Amino acid sequence: MKKTILLSILVAVNAVAYEPTWESIDSRPLPSWYDEAKIGIFLHWGVYSVPSIASEWFWKQWENNPIIIDFMNKNYPPGFTYQEFAKDFTAEFFDPYDWANLFQLSGAKYVVLTSKHHEGYTLWPSKHSFSWNAQDVAVRETTDLRFGLYHSLYEWYNPLYLADQASNFKTDVFVQNKVYPELLDIVNTYKPEIVWSDGEWEAPDTYWKSKEFLAWLYNESPVKDTVVTNDRWGCGAVICQHGGFYTCVDRYNPGVLQEHKWENAMTIDKHSWGYRRNTLLRDILSIYELLVTLAQTVSCGGTIIPIFRERLLQMGEWLSINGEAIYSSQPWIYQNDTIGNTWYTAKPNTVYALVLEWPANNVYRSEKLFDLFQTQDVAVYLLGNEQLQASVKNATVEIIFPDKATVITLDNFVGYTFQRDINVLFSEKG
Ligand SMILES: *[C@@H]1O[C@H](CO)[C@@H](O)[C@H](O)[C@H]1NC(C)=O
Ligand SMILES: *[C@@H]1O[C@H](CO)[C@@H](O)[C@H](O)[C@H]1NC(C)=O
Repeated sequence: MKKTILLSILVAVNAVAYEPTWESIDSRPLPSWYDEAKIGIFLHWGVYSVPSIASEWFWKQWENNPIIIDFMNKNYPPGFTYQEFAKDFTAEFFDPYDWANLFQLSGAKYVVLTSKHHEGYTLWPSKHSFSWNAQDVAVRETTDLRFGLYHSLYEWYNPLYLADQASNFKTDVFVQNKVYPELLDIVNTYKPEIVWSDGEWEAPDTYWKSKEFLAWLYNESPVKDTVVTNDRWGCGAVICQHGGFYTCVDRYNPGVLQEHKWENAMTIDKHSWGYRRNTLLRDILSIYELLVTLAQTVSCGGTIIPIFRERLLQMGEWLSINGEAIYSSQPWIYQNDTIGNTWYTAKPNTVYALVLEWPANNVYRSEKLFDLFQTQDVAVYLLGNEQLQASVKNATVEIIFPDKATVITLDNFVGYTFQRDINVLFSEKG
């Protein structure tokens, strides 16, 4: 008898889980793995990777970008269409195990692949001879990374979409027949633990059936307990206000602590998400710039999502020593110290200082640390290195860094700054 009552309660609780309203959807707690992960990789890969000029917006920008127009005039016959690039998107160098290995070495904890970008070309294996889901298999077989999918709601030139658009979104043939069934299909088939939505901005969430999709995703989908989503689900007051983590704008990096979990979706090529054959060396973020972004993002409660082999390996090397200050950390009471050169994170009994510039004469000074040193008995260490001397003078904490006589400066990269001993660790003596 008792058993029966208990079961019916469980069923009732289950049945009222999430309603298709923002209030209900926003009430779902973020699965904790995402906050602990801190770093992910975003892969923009599609037909635009064939011309690999300008960016993944190639097709749209072909309308008016002189670089693309000129490139097409010089290299392709008149009348050549974007669709004709698709036959060359054969992915002949696709080695998912190599990729998965690189992602693991970078120190990232999740990877998000573009299942479909704004041009509408899907990377579904059913339609094309190669099988991109080898990516998800490789990631899951050989690493402990989480696998996610990017998905663009709108498609620039899809006739069904253009007809709905012409009706001012009074009709929703495109969503009923394409977007919604495809979203269910990729979630059921590939079980992504991130659904990274985009291309929402021309139509309201009611048109996209976003709340219905999210309620299904959270209540019934095969990833209902672990899936994380973003905030790009409809035009108007949705982005930065509803959904899972907030992305707000591309490369969002507010520099101050945020109440809601957020993601800095940024690129290592400053101008493009997709591969460009015409990238210049100066367009690529240096490892210094990348780690500055990482420090600023994680200390303010965010998560970062970048790209590119050499930088990823350098980031992995840095994280192999300093990852303790990043993974599963929380923002500290202060974030930005010494005018932007130090960013703090914390764990119980420990504060991590991500010091982005070696202090003049090896003396690090901070007023923000004063209260901590007043109220606690604090020991200071360099991560992966020795204990440091610290003292309090005139309401300022002074920490003596080890002598670093040699400074290698190369293209913004200050050699010592990101070697073994960049992070200072403050912990209670104990
Ligand atoms: C850090 O704080 C300083 C001083 O308030 C400010 O000038 C600077 O813009 C901040 N840095 C960032 C990246 O927000
Ligand atoms: C102590 O700090 C105050 C305020 O920052 C400053 O005016 C004063 O010169 C400092 N005294 C010494 C001895 O450094």
